[in-house]
Order: sequence, then C-alpha cells, then structure tokens
Amino acid sequence: MKTLILMLVLIILIPFILLAQEKKVGDEALGTRKYADFEKPEVCGSSCHIDFYQQWKQAMMSQAYTHHWDEIEYFKLAVPHAEKDPKVAGVKAGCNGCHSPIAFLAGDVPPPKPEENSRANESVSCDFCHTVTGFKGDVPHNYNYISEPGKVKYGNREGVVSPAHKTMYSTFHRSSDLCGTCHNEKNPYDIWVKSTHLEWKEGPYAKEGVRCQDCHMTYAKGHNAAMASELPDVAQHLFHGAHDPGKVRGVIEIRIHPDIRAVEPGEKVKFTAALFNQKTGHKFPTGSAEERLLWLHTEAKDAKGNVHHLKVDKKGFASEEYTIAANTLAYQDMGIPLNIPDFKGIQRDGIPEGDRIYRLPYLDPQGRMTIMQWNTASFATDYRIGPRETKLETFTWTIPNDAAPGPMTVRAALYYQKLPTYVAEYLGVPKEEADPLEVNFHETTINIIK
Ligand code: HEC
Ligand code: HEC
Ligand code: HEC
Ligand code: HEC
Repeated sequence: MKTLILMLVLIILIPFILLAQEKKVGDEALGTRKYADFEKPEVCGSSCHIDFYQQWKQAMMSQAYTHHWDEIEYFKLAVPHAEKDPKVAGVKAGCNGCHSPIAFLAGDVPPPKPEENSRANESVSCDFCHTVTGFKGDVPHNYNYISEPGKVKYGNREGVVSPAHKTMYSTFHRSSDLCGTCHNEKNPYDIWVKSTHLEWKEGPYAKEGVRCQDCHMTYAKGHNAAMASELPDVAQHLFHGAHDPGKVRGVIEIRIHPDIRAVEPGEKVKFTAALFNQKTGHKFPTGSAEERLLWLHTEAKDAKGNVHHLKVDKKGFASEEYTIAANTLAYQDMGIPLNIPDFKGIQRDGIPEGDRIYRLPYLDPQGRMTIMQWNTASFATDYRIGPRETKLETFTWTIPNDAAPGPMTVRAALYYQKLPTYVAEYLGVPKEEADPLEVNFHETTINIIK
C-alpha cells in the first residue's frame, strides 16, 4: 500500500519535476524566447507608471546596451576578440545576457547596433525585471535568472490589482539575489570579474538586512501607478551609481593630521590620512572595477602659495606597485581585437605619479593589466575600500629648504574616474566617461618655523 501511494505521488510530481528542469537559465536560455514575449517599456510607462519610466530612462539600466562606452567595448573589443579566441567565444552572446537580456533570450546576438533602434536597445527593461521569478543554482551570477514572461507581473506587494495585467507577490523582488544575477560575473577563466553582490554579502550591510534596493531603489511616500492610492513606501526606480556624481561624492570621509605641528625646513613630518567608507554597501570601487580609478592626491601649500606634491609611503605588500600611480604602459591585450600585433599598450593611470590608487588590478593570461574583463586570468591584489572599512595612508615628507615660513596647508583629496583618460582617448569614448570627480577632501595645517 505504502509503495503504491509513493508511486502515485511520484507520478503526480513528474510533470512538475520536468517543468522545473525545463527552466533554462544562463547560456542555455539563449534563444528560448521572442522579443514579442516582452512588453515594451513605453507600454508600462506612458500612462500608468509614468514616474518609474522617467526615472528608469535616466538610469544606466535603460542604457545598458546603448551607452556609448558599452557599444564601443562590445563591438570594438569583445565581439572581434570572441571571433578570434575560442576561449572567450561565449562572450559574443553572453555580454547581452545582462546588458540586453531580451535580445539574449530572443537569440538576437550580436544584436543590431544601437543606431538601428532595434528592441535590443530596451536594455534592462521593466517587463524583463518584472517577469523574472527566481534564479537557478547556489549563487546568483551570469544571468542565471529564470525568465517567465507573460500576463503575470511579479513585484513587491501582495494583493495588488491592476487593470493591465495580473500581479503576483515575489520575495525574489525584495531580495538582493535578483540584482546578483547580473551584478556577479564569472568570466571564461573562472574569475569573478564582477562581484558587487558577493562583496555585499560578505560585508556588514547584508548581516543587518540592508539590501541593494535600500540604497538604489529608495522608498518614498507616493503612488506606484497613476491610478493607485497613496502608499508610504514606494520603491523609486533610481538605480543611481557610478554615473551619478551625487551618489559618488562623499562616499569616503577623509581626515588627515601631522605627527608634529611646528617644523623647520629640512625636518621630517609624517602625515596620516584616514579614509572611511561610510556610504557603499559593497567595496568602492565595485562592479566594473577593471576600469575604475580612485586615488588619493596630497599637496602642501606654503605661506607664499608654493605647492609641493606629497608621494604616499609604500606599505610593502605584494603587487603594491599597481596601487601607486606610475608612468607605465598597460592594456597590451587590446592589440588582439584591434588587430595590432605587438601592441605597446597605453598609459596605465594618467594621474600624478606617487598617488595611492584604490583598485583591483585585472591581469590577462600573460600577466599584463587589462580592462577587458573577459580576458582576465588573475588579479594582482585587491586594494579597494570595503564597506565601513577605514584605510590609513602615511606621507613622510622632508620640508623643502625653500619652504616659506608661516602656516602650511596640507590637502588630501580623493578623486574618482570611471575610465582611465588614455584608454578613453584611444578608443574614442566621450570625455565625460573619463572626467575626474572629487569624492572628498580634508586639510590640516602645520607651521614652518625658521
Ligand atoms: C532591474 C530590475 C527592475 C527594472 C528594470 C524595473 N523594476 Fe520595477 N521593481 C524592481 C524591484 C526589485 C522592485 C521592488 C523593490 C522593493 O520592494 O524592494 C520594483 C517595484 C516596482 C513597482 C512597485 C513599486 C512599489 O513600491 O509598490 C512597480 C509598479 C514597478 N516596479 C514598475 C516598473 C516599471 C514600470 C519599470 C520600467 C519603467 C520598472 N519597474 C523597471 C525591479 C525593476
Ligand atoms: C548602504 C548603501 C548601499 C548598498 C546596500 C548597496 N549599494 Fe551600491 N552603491 C552605493 C553607493 C554610495 C554607490 C556609489 C559609489 C560607487 O560607485 O561605489 C554605489 C554604487 C553602485 C554601483 C556602481 C558601481 C560602479 O563602479 O560602477 C552598482 C552597480 C551598485 N552600487 C550596485 C549595488 C548592488 C547590486 C547592491 C546589492 C548587492 C548594492 N549596490 C548595495 C551604496 C550602496
Ligand atoms: C538583467 C541584468 C541586471 C539586473 C537583474 C540588475 N542589473 Fe543593475 N545593471 C545592469 C547592467 C548591465 C548595468 C550597467 C549599465 C551600463 O553602465 O552600461 C547596470 C547598472 C546598474 C547601476 C548603475 C551603475 C552606474 O554605473 O551608475 C546600479 C546602481 C544598478 N545597476 C543596481 C541594480 C540593482 C539595485 C538591481 C536589483 C534591484 C539591479 N541592478 C539588477 C544589469 C542588471
Ligand atoms: C553577468 C552580467 C554581465 C555580463 C555577462 C557582462 N556585463 Fe557588462 N556590466 C554588467 C553590470 C552589472 C555592469 C555595471 C557594473 C558597475 O557599474 O558596477 C556592467 C558594466 C559594463 C561596462 C561599463 C559601463 C560603464 O559605463 O562604466 C561595460 C563597457 C560593459 N559592462 C561591457 C560588457 C561587455 C563588452 C561584456 C561582454 C564581454 C559584458 N559587459 C558582460 C553586467 C554584465
């Protein structure tokens, strides 16, 4: 009898088991859908969700496929590289799994260029996010989301009634795992080239229950649709990050102090700067860390206005040379997709020599620094600033003999740049992508006595 019941249960369960297995994710989901399965963002945004639509339009999420630098990196570097090197062949389709998920799911790879105005341009769209139902595997990464487009839209509230579609409550939409399906990436060399969600998970915020949404989709009193009644906590679709100077400003707080206040020329002073990450839920920089520069520039100005540049003291850790600005060439592997054999490379940093850089240097299979994340075989070191971490830097400096007597101001300033200047220039990426931004600064004063 017992075995009979067991068999019966199994027979009933089989279709469900098969259905669960059918849900293809990651590379297997390529070409499993049609564009027509997904609603256009304009449909969601023209009369019902006007505010969310306009917020999303201004965020990188709606430009993940069309943004100038994305277009250049994909078409000038990734696609030609994928066609030459079988090891990285998968990225030709794979980049789109996150940058234009509906093009990927529709099997439209490589998609038409942005200027052709195809549906690939919708990038990470409303209906894509609101029809995912979960992810498959242990760790969200590499577009392992489960996409089930249809009349049911999944969201963060129970019992919502809409005239346009069915709605269903989804814990996945309340969770950082949804973000992790694209904000964690393992490349063909099995390297975590993007790990924002993993960094968050290891850090203090995850433990306190502060999710990605709490900082990037903040909550305000208002309406979640034009016809809906007011709610106290509507999730704003801001998705503001590195491309919003206001989000980046003040991320790190700096305090600098000397070990002695009154000094004579020829004497040594040691300044200590403390850099406290008070704002990010992950490391800073995160995500596209291969191309982000964050550096501390320290200058002393004497009573007559003469300016001296202070170089950071070395700490002596392995691969530290990558974290101190230098006049050196890198990024030679770009020669492969660009068809330049023996490419000499481009200036690595393009910022004042001797400044401390907080970065994660990505190395190609030959051990040279690369910005082609898919061609990364190892990391040199991880010298970024973790969530709520404080890093100390020292500057030991001999006061020059010609320093003017009187007060001398020492200013430590932290700058951020999304893409190294020379890389942007070389590849023709608009200058705005490489504009330095002052994150924060602090000043201290010593007295020069004679
Ligand atoms: C990257 C994925 C993503 C995209 C793109 C996206 N959303 Fe959302 N949306 C979410 C998440 C996640 C929530 C729930 C946030 C929470 O509660 O923590 C949400 C919530 C909502 C809600 C309910 C808000 C509330 O608080 O009641 C509506 C309505 C909505 N989204 C509509 C849209 C529309 C319209 C667009 C396109 C203009 C869009 N979404 C684009 C992820 C996305
Ligand atoms: C405590 C607030 C907080 C939390 C939690 C948080 N972030 Fe951020 N995030 C920030 C701030 C501030 C910035 C701007 C500085 C920067 O670029 O890192 C940022 C930047 C970003 C960027 C842009 C980084 C770059 O260099 O391009 C992305 C992408 C991002 N966050 C995604 C996420 C995801 C995904 C999660 C959840 C796994 C998350 N964030 C959790 C505060 C937060
Ligand atoms: C389908 C993949 C996908 C999902 C899911 C996704 N993102 Fe993104 N997100 C991207 C891509 C791709 C970009 C990069 C856009 C660009 O710069 O081209 C991006 C950009 C961002 C940025 C802006 C970074 C900048 O440089 O300014 C933030 C912030 C962000 N995402 C947060 C989130 C949060 C929070 C979630 C979860 C609610 C989420 N993302 C879910 C793919 C995704
Ligand atoms: C697993 C998802 C995923 C895959 C696969 C992926 N990306 Fe991204 N990409 C992102 C996310 C998320 C961001 C935003 C990260 C951030 O800013 O922190 C991003 C950022 C970028 C940026 C930087 C945008 C900026 O303005 O700084 C470029 C360029 C880019 N990706 C190109 C590519 C190319 C080319 C490929 C294929 C070789 C690729 N991506 C594969 C998720 C992905």
